[in-house]
Amino acid sequence: MRLENKKINTQIINNKYQKVKTKDNTYTLKSLEYNECYHSSEGALKETYYKHVCVMEEMADDFGDEIRILDICFGLGYNTFVSILNRPKNKKLKIYSPELDVELIKSLINFKYPKEFDEIRHIIDSVSKDLYYKDDFVEIEVANEDAREYIKNLEDIHIVYQDAFSPKVNKELWTLEYFRDLKKILNPKGIITTYSVATPVRCALYKLGFKLYTHKSDIIRKGTIASLRELNFPKVDFEEKLKRTKCRVYRDNE
Ligand SMILES: C[S@@+](CC[C@H](N)C(=O)[O-])C[C@H]1O[C@@H](n2cnc3c(N)ncnc32)[C@H](O)[C@@H]1O
Repeated sequence: MRLENKKINTQIINNKYQKVKTKDNTYTLKSLEYNECYHSSEGALKETYYKHVCVMEEMADDFGDEIRILDICFGLGYNTFVSILNRPKNKKLKIYSPELDVELIKSLINFKYPKEFDEIRHIIDSVSKDLYYKDDFVEIEVANEDAREYIKNLEDIHIVYQDAFSPKVNKELWTLEYFRDLKKILNPKGIITTYSVATPVRCALYKLGFKLYTHKSDIIRKGTIASLRELNFPKVDFEEKLKRTKCRVYRDNE
């Protein structure tokens, strides 16, 4: 859930963002442009780990020696940085991440990340300055481009962290056409993880032939995991739901 209009401890940054402390004591921002937070109030770190990164860890052995991650979109970089902190043993990570807001990325060098991030301070600084980082185990490419165009040049992605703002304000990253483009660049064993449980989002994935699952952990609100093959995660019985609900999806031209 991205929409959070509760009264929050405010500190306005560059007239564009508001600093927000979440329930796990980690910080996120609220975008004044989108009027949404970058993370749920449950906890920026907690949400990142349980919605996205722990799924990557659990599936890692299916993905070969190099795990190719598409992080939609970079924002404060939690998904990318927490993936690196939890990199599965003997695996390399190649992370691709589009982000329209380059001013935000440049400011991350001064962002108050959790103390767990101290050991990757050099990576944060490099991405913030150069939009790029590479060592023997990790390569990160942040592209200051529209995600819709950027994804068309990718291939063989193992996991997509689908973490845009909500469809209400960021619809172009939740449409049937967008998910069709994501499907084209997924490895056959690839998956999509998202916080969204919205019926039009699940409908689009279902119409495209994805099987729908949810998260194992009860520690945070459950989201959706989409896969083209069977997975060992709790299944969402979407066919049952469709007996009661119309399968409406978000479209590019509406
Ligand atoms: C919810 S935030 C992402 C949070 C991020 N995953 C994190 O861990 O901090 C959504 C981000 O998507 C970016 N964005 C929105 N629409 C975009 C688009 N079409 N292409 C690229 N970036 C986009 C916004 O600027 C914002 O930084």
